[in-house]
Amino acid sequence: APSPFRTIALPYGEEALEQAARWIAQGQPVAVPTETVYGLAANARDSDAVAAIYAAKRRPSFNPLIVHVDGLAMAERLARFDPVARKLASAFWPGPLTMVLPVREDAGLSPLVMAGLPTVALRLPAHRAMQALIARAGTPLAAPSANRSGAISPTSAAHVAASLGGRIPFILDDGPTTQGLESTIVAPEAGRIRLLRPGPVTPRMLEKASGLPVVAAQGGSIEAPGQLGSHYAPSKPVRLYATEAQADEYLVGFGPVPGAISLSESGDLVEAAANLFAALHIADASSLPRVAVAPVPEDGIGLAINDRLRRAAA
Ligand code: TXA
Ligand code: MG
Repeated sequence: APSPFRTIALPYGEEALEQAARWIAQGQPVAVPTETVYGLAANARDSDAVAAIYAAKRRPSFNPLIVHVDGLAMAERLARFDPVARKLASAFWPGPLTMVLPVREDAGLSPLVMAGLPTVALRLPAHRAMQALIARAGTPLAAPSANRSGAISPTSAAHVAASLGGRIPFILDDGPTTQGLESTIVAPEAGRIRLLRPGPVTPRMLEKASGLPVVAAQGGSIEAPGQLGSHYAPSKPVRLYATEAQADEYLVGFGPVPGAISLSESGDLVEAAANLFAALHIADASSLPRVAVAPVPEDGIGLAINDRLRRAAA
């Protein structure tokens, strides 16, 4: 299909927010940063707008979207919060935690957002651009990551333009994102918390805040498709746990390893998370036909880094 848009990018500010809000009001999705990755946001109450997100990303329509809110009040009008959900909200919102909760019958969300599930994924982001846009739009915004379905997530406006340029009208550019990995997704349950996608909020942080055990999601269902199969994937083969690169490999290192780039020279996992997707984008754009990635410790946010790396290599 031909590209329907000339994609405009503007730096964060009054003019950019106004233009973004105008596209949202017209039912078009726009790219906007959060603290995790850039999202492709549209009015979660407007089925045509939500359908336009799926179309621009070429995302399968059975993969539901996260709804972004500007406060707990908006969130509680959309979903039922039990005491555990309230506790997690007060500990981690605004921030990189998404909660899957029973959707209210009177939520008024487009059914395309939930893709047939009785639950909705809610998140209150800690980023001025997304917060300001939700407030201006005056409506919850559905926003998946602003990349083609299955590809590497975008942590800068340039990544968005490379993946979705010509397919969306507007990018609100507020620089690189700080966390670099998508939000942690959980489903609070009676007496435990199910982890659907590891992210910046680690199991240890969840257990400490809630006093409840965190259990891993069972694979196989569509409950969080970001959890399944190949995802976050460069266009070339990825080899993990590499201690050195072959001649035809671009090495993404961790720590002071001799490589083309290091996720963190000092071996800092938070810095590595922030750099991960940019490093994969660079490796993908290199002239070498393969990517090799050094081992990253399975600790703290390292769990989420390794989760994304395994899917990139799948
Ligand atoms: O950090 C983030 O979460 C970013 C920014 C833009 O907020 N968004 C993001 O969205 O990563 P996306 O669409 O790339 O990932 C959303 C994940 C998918 O794996 C989807 O299957 C899952 O959330 N999801 C959405 N609604 C769900 C539900 N009701 N039950 C279970 N999983 C759900
Ligand atoms: Mg995504």
